[in-house]
Amino acid sequence: SEVHVFAPATVANMICGFDILGFAVDYPGDEVQMFRVPEPGVRIRSIKGDEGRLPVDPERNTVSACVKMLLAHLGIENEIGVEIDLIKHMPIGSGLGSSSASTVAGLFAINSLLGNPLTKAELLPFCVEGERLACGHGHADNVAPALMGGITLVRGYDPLDVIKLPVPEELYAGIVFPKVDVPTRDARQLIKEKVYLRDAVTQWGNIAGLVAGLYEKDYALISRSMHDVLIEPTRAILIPEFYAMKDIALQEGALSFGISGSGPSVVAISKGKEIAERAATAIQEHLTRSEIESFKYVSSV
Ligand code: HSE
Repeated sequence: SEVHVFAPATVANMICGFDILGFAVDYPGDEVQMFRVPEPGVRIRSIKGDEGRLPVDPERNTVSACVKMLLAHLGIENEIGVEIDLIKHMPIGSGLGSSSASTVAGLFAINSLLGNPLTKAELLPFCVEGERLACGHGHADNVAPALMGGITLVRGYDPLDVIKLPVPEELYAGIVFPKVDVPTRDARQLIKEKVYLRDAVTQWGNIAGLVAGLYEKDYALISRSMHDVLIEPTRAILIPEFYAMKDIALQEGALSFGISGSGPSVVAISKGKEIAERAATAIQEHLTRSEIESFKYVSSV
């Protein structure tokens, strides 16, 4: 028996909610094909689309390591044999939840092959462990939306408490990936451990405003809530042309603009597909003029 699973890219943080908010996009995403084989063990058969950057050693590859973790949890690691083909459709280190998409696809695949012994909620902690293996920190704001779809809120980490939020119909994301490498590990080391209370007040006001805006489908409230005073000022320096791109997105009518996950991808959150498309195109044209190669993706939230 075999399964073929797709898991989507995700925009973590949703601009103001560092480590707690995130949403899934329609594309790009990663695919995992998994086959049952008689010989016990977990093996990576092939990896495509990673430019040779990912390890095939099953102990070091995040997807196989997570699958092994799940089999060990179920006490069947010496009985089950699987082989994995991993097909990546998005760049690594782009801020689009590349490792999360692969991990979620892998864990969803093994769970399906076994007849779904775990619910999605039970699968989530294993996905978080995969994130920890991939970048040294177990944040859930990429894996939760990749697994559950839509917009998710990580209300708490200990214990993990994830809530699905409503998605207003006209919310679109124009995403641009400037082709520079920003590993999440580095982007996390840069940010300050301590914040000022007045900044924290601004930030949690914005997060609460955004959540209220999503429930009320109030695009003006969503727009004025999506600002990040804690993380963006520090991380923006890793992203070429960040403030120029922000000006362009807002000029084109985006509700908000910010970093996708830990960057370097950026996102123009917009009301309607047309504005998202226009903002992403204008940003891309600017990057081309600055001789920076880029990719763009436009998707509903
Ligand atoms: N919340 C994480 C961060 C997401 O901003 O570091 C990483 O993709």
